[in-house]
Amino acid sequence: MSSDPLANKAQAWSALFSEPMSELVKRYTASVGFDQRLWRADIEGSLAHAEMLAAQGIIGEQDLADIRRGMAQIRQEIESGRFEWKLELEDVHLNIEARLTALVGDAGKRLHTGRSRNDQVATDVRLWLRGEIDRLQPLLQSMQRALLDLAERHAETVMPGFTHLQVAQPVSFAHHLLAYVEMFARDGERLADVRRRVNRLPLGAAALAGTSYALDRWRVARTLGFDGLCENSLDAVSDRDFALEFAAFASICMVHVSRLSEEIVLWMSQNFGFIDLADRYCTGSSIMPQKRNPDVAELARGKTGRVVGHLMGLLMLMKGQPLAYNKDNQEDKEPLFDAVDTVADTLRIMAEMVEGLQVKPDAMERAARRGYATATDLADYLVKKGLPFRDAHEAVAHAVKLALGRGVDLSELSLADLQAIHPLIGEDAPQVLTLRGSMNARRVVGGTAPEQVLARIAAHRARLANA
Ligand code: ARG
Repeated sequence: MSSDPLANKAQAWSALFSEPMSELVKRYTASVGFDQRLWRADIEGSLAHAEMLAAQGIIGEQDLADIRRGMAQIRQEIESGRFEWKLELEDVHLNIEARLTALVGDAGKRLHTGRSRNDQVATDVRLWLRGEIDRLQPLLQSMQRALLDLAERHAETVMPGFTHLQVAQPVSFAHHLLAYVEMFARDGERLADVRRRVNRLPLGAAALAGTSYALDRWRVARTLGFDGLCENSLDAVSDRDFALEFAAFASICMVHVSRLSEEIVLWMSQNFGFIDLADRYCTGSSIMPQKRNPDVAELARGKTGRVVGHLMGLLMLMKGQPLAYNKDNQEDKEPLFDAVDTVADTLRIMAEMVEGLQVKPDAMERAARRGYATATDLADYLVKKGLPFRDAHEAVAHAVKLALGRGVDLSELSLADLQAIHPLIGEDAPQVLTLRGSMNARRVVGGTAPEQVLARIAAHRARLANA
C-alpha cells in the first residue's frame, strides 16, 4: 500500500474497498475539472481550520507550521500552473490535501481532524461567492454611473414614453434612463442582502452532526471574516439556499439588463432611429452589406435565459434532497460559477456600451409628436377649467380624431379648431400642448420634469459616492 493514502482513489476511502472505482464512475463523479476554481478559498479555509486546531491543542504547533509551509508551496504551484490536478482525486479538496500530505507528511494527514468535505465544501463555496459578490457590487455601480452620465446630458431631451409600446406621454430621455438606475440600485441592495446570509461559517458541522473535538468555531469565523455561524450542523452541510438567493439576484439583475437591451435593440432599429451604437459594439452581416447589428444587446438579452435557467436548475437540485449532505450538491457549482461570470461580463460590457451610446434627440422628439403624446395634457387642462375628467377625455378624443384626419399634431390645430371642440379651451391652451410644456408640468416627486430628474441624478450620485 502506498504511503500516500490519497494517491489512489480506491485507497482514499479505506481498506473497505476491494476493487478500484470504474473509469466511467471516476469521470462521472469527479468535480475537479470545475471546482478547482475554489482553490484559494479551500486553502484559506484549511489554514483557518489548522490555526484553530493548533490553538485548541488538537494538533501541534509544528503541525501547523508544516501545514502553512505546504500550503504556501501549493499556492505557488497552482498560481504558476505547475500543480498537477488529478481526476482520480475527485475534487479540489482531495487534490490539495493529497499534495499537502505528499509535501509535509503526517501534519497533512492531521489537517482534516474535526472536519469533513461536507462542511469544507460549503465553506469554500461561501467564501468564494462572498469574494465574487464584492467584485460584482462595483460593476453594478459602474453600470449606474454610466446611465447617470448619459442621463445628465439629456434631462431636456424629449422622447415618447410608451405604454403597450404605443406612444403615451412625453418623458425626458434622462427620466427613462433613471428608471434603470433605480432597478440596478435595487439589485445592489438585493446583492448586499444576499451577502449577509452567504457570510456564515459551516465549518464545525463536520459530516453532518457536529464534532466531538473542542473546536472554536468563532475563532475560525473571525479568521475568515464570517459574520456568524451556521447554527445547525445538518443545515450547514446541506442547504444551498444562499446559492439560490444569489441566482435569484442574478436572474433579476439580468432581467433588468435584458429589458434595457431590448430597448436598445428597438431604439437602434430604423423604425425608431433614437440612438446609434458605436461600431465596436456592432457586427455586420456576411450577406447584407448595409447591416450593423446590435449583437451585444441581443446576446445580453439571450444570456438572461441562461442565468434564469441556472436559478431553475439550482431550485430543482435542492427540491428532492433529504437531510443532510447529498452528492447532488456537487452540481451547484457550474450553474453558480456561470451565473457569476455571465452577470459580471454582461454588466461590464453593458456599462461600456451605454457610455458610447449616441442619442438622436430630433428623432425622439419627432416620434413623440407623431403620437399625440400631449393629449392627456389637454384633458388635464380642461379638468383644471372645471370639466369632469371623463368629459374632458371624450373632448380630447375628438381633437385627436381631427388632428389624425388632417395628418397634423395636436399642437398644430388652430385655436379656433380647438375651441370648436370645447368652448372651455382658451388662448393659453396651445402652450400645454407642447411636448416641453407637458414634460415640465410633471413636477411631482418621481416625475419627468427636468428639475425632478436632476434632483434624482444628484441623489443617486451622492448614494454612489458613499457606496
Ligand atoms: N465535491 C463535493 C461537492 O462538491 C465535496 C463534498 C463531498 N462530500 C462527500 N461526502 N462526498 O459537494
